[in-house]
Amino acid sequence: MDRLRVAVVGAGRWAQRAHVPGWQRDERVEVVALVDTDADVLADAGRRFGIGRLTTDYRELLDDPSIDVIDVATANTAHFEVSEAAIEAGKHVLCEKPVHRDYRETRRLAEAARAKGLKTKLGFTFRYAPAVRYAKSLIDAGFIGTPYVFNGFEQNSQWIDPATPMRQVDPDADPAVLATSSIEGYGAPIIDIMHWWADAGLTSVVGTMRNFVPERVVRATGRSQRLNIDDGDMWICEFDGGMLGSIQSSYVTVGNLPGIEARFYGSEGALIVRLVEEAGICQTIRTATKDDVEFVEREIPREFFPPGGDSAEDWDSLFYANLCADFTTELLDGGDVNQGDFAQGALVQETVNAFEASFRRRAWVDFPLADDVAGDVA
Ligand SMILES: NC(=O)c1ccc[n+]([C@@H]2O[C@H](COP(=O)([O-])OP(=O)(O)OC[C@H]3O[C@@H](n4cnc5c(N)ncnc54)[C@H](O)[C@@H]3O)[C@@H](O)[C@H]2O)c1
Repeated sequence: MDRLRVAVVGAGRWAQRAHVPGWQRDERVEVVALVDTDADVLADAGRRFGIGRLTTDYRELLDDPSIDVIDVATANTAHFEVSEAAIEAGKHVLCEKPVHRDYRETRRLAEAARAKGLKTKLGFTFRYAPAVRYAKSLIDAGFIGTPYVFNGFEQNSQWIDPATPMRQVDPDADPAVLATSSIEGYGAPIIDIMHWWADAGLTSVVGTMRNFVPERVVRATGRSQRLNIDDGDMWICEFDGGMLGSIQSSYVTVGNLPGIEARFYGSEGALIVRLVEEAGICQTIRTATKDDVEFVEREIPREFFPPGGDSAEDWDSLFYANLCADFTTELLDGGDVNQGDFAQGALVQETVNAFEASFRRRAWVDFPLADDVAGDVA
């Protein structure tokens, strides 16, 4: 293969903002087809991005041998079905998170893909931020030494105003039970970065979550109602080898998007990456060493950016272009490299489920999850 032919399934807001522009920015890629069950959304997106082949049923594309990648950017409800069908049909798959709320199902798909020699990738946007990739290269080169402490934050005030309509609300949810929300929707990317940087086995977790804003407007009805959902949470993690980690996620904490901060401290040095749109830029990395403890900002080398990208660009298009370019390289180069794949997605979802189990039991929970614990929260 010297060119990648991609079909994007789901042509809504995020597909138009990140996926399609991300692929089309890479000259090694052609977006050959677009799918959406909403014919109006489909026609608009097809015109906007100059994509000729449009269909409302993704299954029409599965038998086409000229399509290499199925990119699943639908609402969450279709992620698993479309990914499973695509892998069965022999396609490489990029899918938005979560593939499935039960991490065991996601792991099963990861294994099915691997057995067929296919590659998968989760929409872990923030691991592809140039600052995060640069930090990972410093960590791998030994900059921080032995890891001691990771602190991860994903917080912004996107839903601090109860009048901001919320979607994807479970209409059958029991209002007496606090449901996971922020930690799944917002915490997953920073959990991904924690696992990636730590590169060690997670052994146990404990933590809690809260509902701070009791009533919100629901997008489907336009009315305000009681929503007992986690809009802020805090967790502690223990790792093999002694490292400690903490994760805090919220969408009612004052601050700008996307609101990621990752701090990593070790025996030799430390680094702090901020992915927050402030002062006209979307990312910074600051580092210090044990001999020179004042943190200083570092310039991010060009090699960590997509073509034409810079830190003054919008975060979503910049980071997603890197994600698409990374998957393209992994597929065109062949070999085994496949970062941020469905197996990693399963690990992140299992971590979220362990957090939830800890909250429900008011106790530390061991990791990997025991089957009965997994069954309780999946
Ligand atoms: N990784 C990130 O940073 C990030 C950011 C925003 C959104 N997302 C994710 O992207 C996904 C899409 O979000 P959005 O904001 O674009 O939502 P959206 O509602 O604007 O778009 C989803 C589209 O999927 C279509 N669709 C649903 N089922 C389908 C099916 N079976 N086949 C074809 N099309 C189908 C809908 O008609 C809709 O147009 C969600 O999973 C969301 O969580 C990820």
